[in-house]
Amino acid sequence: MFGALRSLPSVPLGPGPTPVEELPRLRTALGGGPRLLVKRDDAIAFAFGGNKVRKMRLVAARAQEDGADTLITTGGVQSNHARVTAAAAAKLGLKCILVANGTAPEHPTGNALLDRLLGADVRYVASREARAPAMAAAAEEVRRSGGTPCVIPLGASTPLGAAAFVGAIAELGDQIDPPDVIIHATSSGATQAGLAAGCLLSGWATRVVGISADESAGSLERDIRGILSGLGPLLGFDAQRFAQVPVEIDDTFVGAGYGMPTAASREAIELLARTEALFLDPTYTAKAMAALVAYVRRGALAEKDTVLFWHTGGQVGLFA
Ligand SMILES: Cc1ncc(COP(=O)(O)O)c(C=O)c1O
Repeated sequence: MFGALRSLPSVPLGPGPTPVEELPRLRTALGGGPRLLVKRDDAIAFAFGGNKVRKMRLVAARAQEDGADTLITTGGVQSNHARVTAAAAAKLGLKCILVANGTAPEHPTGNALLDRLLGADVRYVASREARAPAMAAAAEEVRRSGGTPCVIPLGASTPLGAAAFVGAIAELGDQIDPPDVIIHATSSGATQAGLAAGCLLSGWATRVVGISADESAGSLERDIRGILSGLGPLLGFDAQRFAQVPVEIDDTFVGAGYGMPTAASREAIELLARTEALFLDPTYTAKAMAALVAYVRRGALAEKDTVLFWHTGGQVGLFA
């Protein structure tokens, strides 16, 4: 059913399936509405977990196969993906160079603190545009000194990164009946591409709704469709296999911008902590949960439906 998925090499970063839990006290606090579930990728045991660990299991395995001795990637100063890349490098005995856009913090906190503890070589650039050239320069430097770099694009949002989320749907299918709706945070796109493709391959009619953390729906959809066109061949299908996959994105919960809290995201963080002892991160999952809360309140989700919130982690950001 999932094509060549099972034959993709993977490194064991943290043990198996993440829990699926009911959210009964949240549902009561919202005055009823659909059945609410959460998929706890925030509870992945490796390096504070999150969706980036799923991607890294496949991406790091490919890097090892290719003989890489240095992982190079990029993101913001508080990037979850950068932290997971640094952690994978440490665990696998590889070196790690992180290109972070922003200024070097005087007293590193959150992910920046973990990057340092993990021994990553963090290099700061002034803008998002400067990230790709800085990664290319770092890769060249590694090659010149006789090493083999592996450059991992932003968020590991490649077809291989998306394949990890096809696997996540296979995992979910062993745990519960297909939910009617999955709601999750989306940004560089591979999580949503993989979830949507996994639902298609499973024959599920599940709606996968990505709540943008930054980009417009139009630009995200373009990115996700690009990833999907590479995912088909990676799994042994043709490039058109996922062309008809619905890509549903809501970009109305971003507020003033990436990482900027909104009244609704602040409320979501407190609500989930106080009703379910679940911790959301300010940049991604709080905005995704704010959307879920708003949908329930405005009656946009049917009472008879099961809605699954895919918790993609990032809670280290609470301590930034
Ligand atoms: C906690 C968290 N949730 C969601 C996302 C979005 O995932 P993706 O980049 O695959 O769209 C990210 C990373 O960007 C993240 O760190």
